[in-house]
Amino acid sequence: MALNSNSKRSSWTLLAIIFLFLGITSAQLSSTYYAKTCPKALSIIKTAVGCDGSVLLDDTSSFTGEKTASPNINSIRGFDVVDTIKSQLETECSGVVSCADILAVAARDSVVTLGGPTWTVELGRRDATNASFSAANTQLPSPILNLTDLITFFSDKGFTTKELVALAGSHTTGQARCVMFRPRLYNETNIDSTLAASLKTNCPSSGGNDNLASLDATTPVIFDSGYFKNLVNNKGLLHSDQQLFSGGSTDSLVQSYIDKPETFFTDFANAMVKMSNLSPLTGTRGEIRTNCRKIN
Ligand SMILES: *[C@@H]1O[C@H](CO)[C@@H](O)[C@H](O)[C@H]1NC(C)=O
Ligand SMILES: *[C@@H]1O[C@H](CO)[C@@H](O)[C@H](O)[C@H]1NC(C)=O
Ligand SMILES: *[C@@H]1O[C@H](CO)[C@@H](O)[C@H](O)[C@H]1NC(C)=O
Repeated sequence: MALNSNSKRSSWTLLAIIFLFLGITSAQLSSTYYAKTCPKALSIIKTAVGCDGSVLLDDTSSFTGEKTASPNINSIRGFDVVDTIKSQLETECSGVVSCADILAVAARDSVVTLGGPTWTVELGRRDATNASFSAANTQLPSPILNLTDLITFFSDKGFTTKELVALAGSHTTGQARCVMFRPRLYNETNIDSTLAASLKTNCPSSGGNDNLASLDATTPVIFDSGYFKNLVNNKGLLHSDQQLFSGGSTDSLVQSYIDKPETFFTDFANAMVKMSNLSPLTGTRGEIRTNCRKIN
């Protein structure tokens, strides 16, 4: 599969979710984990991300074994940037900084670069030595899920409904493939007609499956509350996006993030910390990958 390096923006929810299966055991992380072993690690990552302000890593599931899982295929962006970061880190301090930590830091730095909130990234994760195609297929939220399913999906991973909505706000940037939003585009009525007409020019009823559209059509490369404003105007791109404002229990949360963008920022940052600390491999479990794309 060819990675498309033209478009680096992608879905934050997916990026975040992927942390869930980078490892599975108890956490012993520290924000100063590399202070002695690789003191320049954070600045190397930040510089690399900064060079490409919209580097977003949709889908770290480009890790071997997961890269063709259906939610991910062709939506992986920016992995070349991770490779660049990894090779710089290997030059600076070989075998020290895990790919899982690179992703956690690059995610934070990308959000900051686009105008979003910052947070402290706890470090010391190790990389999984098994990657699973089937896990990627079942553990990433599907764009066809309804609200009930979304709430259950996140709840199963320990997230509240509010955290679900906050994390979905990552769709204030990034893109999705035509095949992911076609059913909504051609079959749903709660979609803004001007947006739909515009999307149809690049997403025909058949063909063009890989054509991309911005998840936030109004401010696609700014991390803001634009995603939520879109939802109240029926401008969600994916079915699963619009589900968050469709007369259900999350409408009020969406509205609250429009009314108070600072609350969105705080909740998003906290949810990202929670997600990336959920169940990392630490200690002697897992490994430090040499090449982020494959197991050593
Ligand atoms: C990886 O291996 C661990 C330990 O054997 C197992 O618990 C976990 O489910 C595996 N993960 C995947 C994604 O297969
Ligand atoms: C949501 O979708 C599931 C199937 O995934 C279905 O069983 C359920 O009835 C749906 N719920 C609503 C409220 O539409
Ligand atoms: C729209 O719905 C019809 C009937 O369920 C289905 O046959 C068709 O494939 C759907 N179209 C798209 C683009 O999903």
